[in-house]
Amino acid sequence: MNVQISYGARSADSAAADAVIRFVCKSELKAAEPIIQPPMDEALRVLYAKGLFKAEAEQTEIISTLGLYPAAHIIFAGYEADRGATGLRLAAASAAKALKKLRADSVQVLLSDRLRETAASLGTAFAASALMEGLLLALHTRHPLKREQSERFMLKEVAFVPYRTAGSAADAALWERGMARGKLHAEGVGYARDLTNLPGNELTPERLAFLAEELAREHDLEIEVIDEWSAAEQQMGGLLGVGQGSINPPRMIVIHYRGDENSEQAWGLIGKGVTFDTGGISLKRAEGMQEMISDMGGAAAVLGAIRVIAELKPAMNVIAVIPAAENMPSDRAFKPGDVLRMMSGHTVEVVNTDAEGRLVLADGLTTAITRGATKLVDVATLTGNVMAALGIEATGAVTNNEELFKQVQAAADSAGERIWQLPAYPEYKKQLRSNAADLKNSGGRYAGAITGGLFIGHFAEGLPWVHLDIGGTAWLDMSRGWEPKGATGVMVRTLVELIVQRE
Ligand code: BES
Ligand code: MN
Ligand code: ZN
Repeated sequence: MNVQISYGARSADSAAADAVIRFVCKSELKAAEPIIQPPMDEALRVLYAKGLFKAEAEQTEIISTLGLYPAAHIIFAGYEADRGATGLRLAAASAAKALKKLRADSVQVLLSDRLRETAASLGTAFAASALMEGLLLALHTRHPLKREQSERFMLKEVAFVPYRTAGSAADAALWERGMARGKLHAEGVGYARDLTNLPGNELTPERLAFLAEELAREHDLEIEVIDEWSAAEQQMGGLLGVGQGSINPPRMIVIHYRGDENSEQAWGLIGKGVTFDTGGISLKRAEGMQEMISDMGGAAAVLGAIRVIAELKPAMNVIAVIPAAENMPSDRAFKPGDVLRMMSGHTVEVVNTDAEGRLVLADGLTTAITRGATKLVDVATLTGNVMAALGIEATGAVTNNEELFKQVQAAADSAGERIWQLPAYPEYKKQLRSNAADLKNSGGRYAGAITGGLFIGHFAEGLPWVHLDIGGTAWLDMSRGWEPKGATGVMVRTLVELIVQRE
């Protein structure tokens, strides 16, 4: 993103912004306080009196200034101060949609005294990043591959301007730091979304590995790409089993970020990288199958996060692992009844080839552990069943460690991404018992998101582990808030908040 960001008082020559955003809360409209200047304020209050603009979340009103103000348009965007950072993200996201409608690529965001109070109560830098995230994330949508390539609308300039009281220099530094971090977050999410939106014919496991290599090179990270031959040497039976039906061979991708050479601790982030999931021999129905291009949404989240982490450089070690495979039916595909010997040595009876994510992830966890990971978080479009439980409103979580889960939950709260813990009672695991092997890969219809998670947890070797099932949240049929239709890049920011502490 080459959007220019700045903070500070408006100078006469910077008055050329196409649009100005003024965030408004209900109490400001009720009180007779000045909002921007008399004729515009009156227009807005008339709308308020008629109930047309109530300053609610996601409500905007565009007013053309007709030369009465040094910007062509003013966008009034409602915000609900009691909704915290999410209130700010939502307000900024709806203002961004108004900008897009106006094709306004240079914008001044007025930071009213009231907004600055809200920001200060949340932490100024944190609030600044939330605003920036909302603004930039809402503008990032899927870019279709057409013969006539249209320009993707993107902001060129964003200036945050204190209004009316100028803050202190220390305050300015906080705003600047937050804005920069918010922009980095949005870039990481945008990267993950673009990757996820790539069609399956463009994004094979090999291609995903190539893109990961590019990312590693650009950010000076160490990367290891394990091809099908070295996967065989390392006995990655899960990855190879799933990948064997496709002409596009699987890859295990490992990226190392070393931020603390003196520590033995390392986060293991494992992202499901099924570049397309047909279901294999247990073929999926045709309806909606095209959405399975997003079955590498977990991989995209991990790569998007590692990209931001590499920029923010926390004193922490991270091992990112992406097991990448294409799940296809063919004469050489794995099939129900096959028994796979996994990298960990455990055996798995395949009862459904469509439960492939857990098979590649099992080897992903083992790979992370052999490379030194001491706590594990996996992100995966693991089940459709998670949608039966939580709909598309939350990512489902399964864990073996409440302490680690609390940390992940707190990170998700900061990111404004919802996760909800599913119970992991030991009884559920009985559903995975097999007569042919240590485990079977599907526990049947009941509690599918839980048994799917517990299957993966079996390969954590007792290390603290959290599983995040983004089966309902990685891909949307309709845009909402700061998320577009298609790939959402969900969990990029949660992973970043988990690993890069805010000061
Ligand atoms: N990738 C799918 C899960 C999925 C489906 C995510 C639809 C998002 C939307 C996964 O590999 C899968 O097929 N899971 C099966 C598991 C079952 C066979 C045990 C499912 O959820 O139906
Ligand atoms: Mn599947
Ligand atoms: Zn899948």
